[in-house]
Amino acid sequence: MPSLATLILLAATAAPLALAQLTSSKRGLCYVSSKTSSTDDKIWDESGSDLTWYYNYGTSPTSGYDGHLDFVPMLWGAPSSDTDMTFYNTVKGLIDGGMNISYVLAFNEPDGCTSGGSCVSADTAAQTWIREIEPLKKLGVKLGAPAVTGAPSGFTWLQNFFTACAGNCSADFLPLHWYGNFEGLASHVGQANATYANMTMWVTEYAYADADLSDSQEFYNQSSSFFDRIDYITHYSYFGAFRSDTSNVGVDTAMLTQKGELTDIGAWYLGMDATGEVPKGDAAQVAKFAGWVIVVAVAAFWTIA
Ligand SMILES: *[C@@H]1O[C@H](CO)[C@@H](O)[C@H](O)[C@H]1NC(C)=O
Ligand SMILES: *[C@@H]1O[C@H](CO)[C@@H](O)[C@H](O)[C@H]1NC(C)=O
Ligand SMILES: *[C@@H]1O[C@H](CO)[C@@H](O)[C@H](O)[C@H]1NC(C)=O
Ligand SMILES: *[C@@H]1O[C@H](CO)[C@@H](O)[C@H](O)[C@H]1NC(C)=O
Ligand SMILES: *[C@@H]1O[C@H](CO)[C@@H](O)[C@H](O)[C@H]1NC(C)=O
Repeated sequence: MPSLATLILLAATAAPLALAQLTSSKRGLCYVSSKTSSTDDKIWDESGSDLTWYYNYGTSPTSGYDGHLDFVPMLWGAPSSDTDMTFYNTVKGLIDGGMNISYVLAFNEPDGCTSGGSCVSADTAAQTWIREIEPLKKLGVKLGAPAVTGAPSGFTWLQNFFTACAGNCSADFLPLHWYGNFEGLASHVGQANATYANMTMWVTEYAYADADLSDSQEFYNQSSSFFDRIDYITHYSYFGAFRSDTSNVGVDTAMLTQKGELTDIGAWYLGMDATGEVPKGDAAQVAKFAGWVIVVAVAAFWTIA
């Protein structure tokens, strides 16, 4: 007969698997446009899915998305002019037009200067924030802090940003990015919670980059049940709403196969049963993004150190 301790351990390890099948209103779509978007887009916008929100790294909604999902505008980088008000004006225009804008995101990976980072200095970001983001608060919009990378440079950049703001950037929630294993993700969330106590968090990009299929699926299961049970994580969006042969974070993490069918992870994310479809790659595509993987390796290494 198993001891009580064993039973508790079994319950603790079994729980995430059972929970992984559940739907979650925290889930959203991190929309990535691609040459197959026109056929793939509707997969994420189906009314039956459990997704509730999306962002597309841009200021305006994705064409064809008609309101099943709440749109979260993002100011991706800093405009070149220090009087530019395009982001503020566009978001205000969406609200005035009757769109339900509850949140905005700001600065995609500003501490990253290669492979998708917006490469913005903390000072420029602070000035831009005070001019274009902070005033949105008066319109009832909740503000996401800059979405830094999961590398150590991310927290350093964020600290510099808040210093440069001198108390004038009142972020309501903290977006996080993570590419690595589950232990690294949990420790990253723990560090964010310790540094920014009482701030709710969104995990706006995450995946176990370049893991094999079974590790990717185990990571997916563990991380979704982790996010679902932590109250202060209110939103999450998996990085993988694209076909496996175009993935820059590994073939097996993708939510669509090279033919555009939902993979198991894709189906689970939408609250559906596994499809059994196995994603396949395209060597040329993966090699093209090799530079990006270095960022991942650094981030993953840091969690072990
Ligand atoms: C992930 O969870 C699903 C149920 O949602 C389960 O069928 C599958 O075996 C799990 N996979 C791993 C690797 O934990
Ligand atoms: C507006 O969006 C928020 C956040 O997604 C949601 O909680 C709320 O129910 C939405 N309101 C309406 C009227 O749709
Ligand atoms: C922050 O706001 C205060 C009060 O309005 C102002 O005096 C100060 O210059 C602002 N700091 C920055 C960095 O904008
Ligand atoms: C988050 O930090 C608070 C203290 O600010 C702590 O009580 C709580 O346990 C932490 N949560 C997790 C999941 O680490
Ligand atoms: C977090 O919130 C709790 C409860 O409201 C409060 O007691 C505590 O001082 C806050 N911590 C920080 C660091 O703001």
